[in-house]
Amino acid sequence: MKKNIIAANFKMNKTNKDIEGYFDIFARNINELKNKSSFAGTEIVFAPPFTSLCEAYRIIKPFESFIKLSSQNIYYEQSGAYTGEISLDMIKNCGCVYAIVGHSERRNIFGESDELVANKVSAVYNNGGIIPILCVGENLEIRNKNGQEKFVENQLNIALNSIKGKNITSLIIAYEPIWAIGTGIPIKPDDGEAMHRFIYDYIKSNFLIDELRIIYGGSVTESNISALMIEPHIDGVLVGGASLDPAAFFNIVKLSIV
Ligand code: 13P
Repeated sequence: MKKNIIAANFKMNKTNKDIEGYFDIFARNINELKNKSSFAGTEIVFAPPFTSLCEAYRIIKPFESFIKLSSQNIYYEQSGAYTGEISLDMIKNCGCVYAIVGHSERRNIFGESDELVANKVSAVYNNGGIIPILCVGENLEIRNKNGQEKFVENQLNIALNSIKGKNITSLIIAYEPIWAIGTGIPIKPDDGEAMHRFIYDYIKSNFLIDELRIIYGGSVTESNISALMIEPHIDGVLVGGASLDPAAFFNIVKLSIV
């Protein structure tokens, strides 16, 4: 069964100590939900900073069947003289099953090119055992010119170049329009659905992916999650700011069950 994904991207927030306190509260709440049949179609994903991955894994292990771990980034080489970088084997060793690749903050603040993102996607599939959460999305200038489809199509085409013609078991695309990230202005559900449908059709006609999930990110909160999740091509969300408070994120998970 294709499960919806409700993912928390902590970005550069929370120490190990904070993570312990966070999961204490979250775990207490999740016990209330976990036996509900409506919850069976949901997977919760946490992407804490690298420094907390192993600690987070230790805490979520009892809930491993429905709470998974993701890194916020990876480097494409396996090992070597790459000061400050983290390899796929390192995150796997801390219990990750997902890796966010090409987040717009990596692209825009740290200058990650489409080609670098493509190398990372390629490395994830070559290494095995990790599913990429590939982020794409246009800025406001492009949206105002109605160029979002062309822009995202180009991002997908470059990033997924290495898997053209290959049979791939699972891929997650996070559609995160830059103008919606951290602004308090989420996409309107029908505009989100239109873009997700476009991405779905584009990938289905150009790639061989068994399980494709397309999740939305950008100012998701308790007040807009239900309306987003009703849309047929929105398979979940990637939450930044509102995931930092365990009670708020728990409510987002709860309200996502439609
Ligand atoms: P916000 O939810 O803070 O807008 O962040 C979205 C995001 O970038 C998730 O990766």
